[in-house]
Amino acid sequence: MIIAVANVKGGAGKTTLATNLAIARAIAGRDVLLIDADNQGSSADFTALRTEQLGNAGYAVARLLGREVRSEVSKMRPKFDEIIIDVGGRDSEGLRAALTVADAVLIPVLPSSFDVWSFSSMVGLAREARGINPELRVLAVLNAADAQGSDNREARELLKETEGVEALSCQLGRRKAYRNAAAQGRSVVDMTPKDPKAVEELTALVAAIYGASK
Ligand SMILES: Nc1ncnc2c1ncn2[C@@H]1O[C@H](COP(=O)(O)OP(=O)(O)OP(=O)(O)O)[C@@H](O)[C@H]1O
Ligand SMILES: [Mg+2]
Repeated sequence: MIIAVANVKGGAGKTTLATNLAIARAIAGRDVLLIDADNQGSSADFTALRTEQLGNAGYAVARLLGREVRSEVSKMRPKFDEIIIDVGGRDSEGLRAALTVADAVLIPVLPSSFDVWSFSSMVGLAREARGINPELRVLAVLNAADAQGSDNREARELLKETEGVEALSCQLGRRKAYRNAAAQGRSVVDMTPKDPKAVEELTALVAAIYGASK
């Protein structure tokens, strides 16, 4: 299964989700390749820190840019159980290439108006990619949701109403654990001390994406 974590809007949580998913799946015994397709290289930097801390990240990492994303991912597909692609935060060749090769695109959306507005451009790109990749699933998840307030509800409504999008019923809250884990080269599932709510959210996200897949 190849998942592209993508959004044309920067800072929505792509790297946070991509790295947390890679670790959660690796811990579940899957052979995981995390691809950093963003020239900022945050997922690769995170993995270097994790490797320094633990001796072994538990998953493989590769940096790819532009069209290489499609050609290399196709080549690497048979060697891994799962590939997770962290795509740069804007419309780029790498993003478009990732959408043509992925089984699913996971779009993290922050519950703010700016992010909600850019959601439709991201969905537009995914729809376009379906011309080449008709089976592409489009999953949307609310990230860094506020503890309360109407923004979450409005954002969730928009995700649900958007045609061709599977709005996941789980969401990730705005929690310090996600930042702290990243600073330690960890995921919320293997950091210490753990934030049980963050663990619960990530576990629900993994189940929503991968289900009972073996
Ligand atoms: N659920 C969350 N709770 C709290 N902080 C979060 C959450 N998700 C992401 N963040 C923080 O928000 C910032 C942006 O997240 P992240 O780097 O994952 O986004 P991105 O989409 O990869 O950004 P870019 O477009 O720059 O690649 C980071 O500091 C991250 O720690
Ligand atoms: Mg990033």
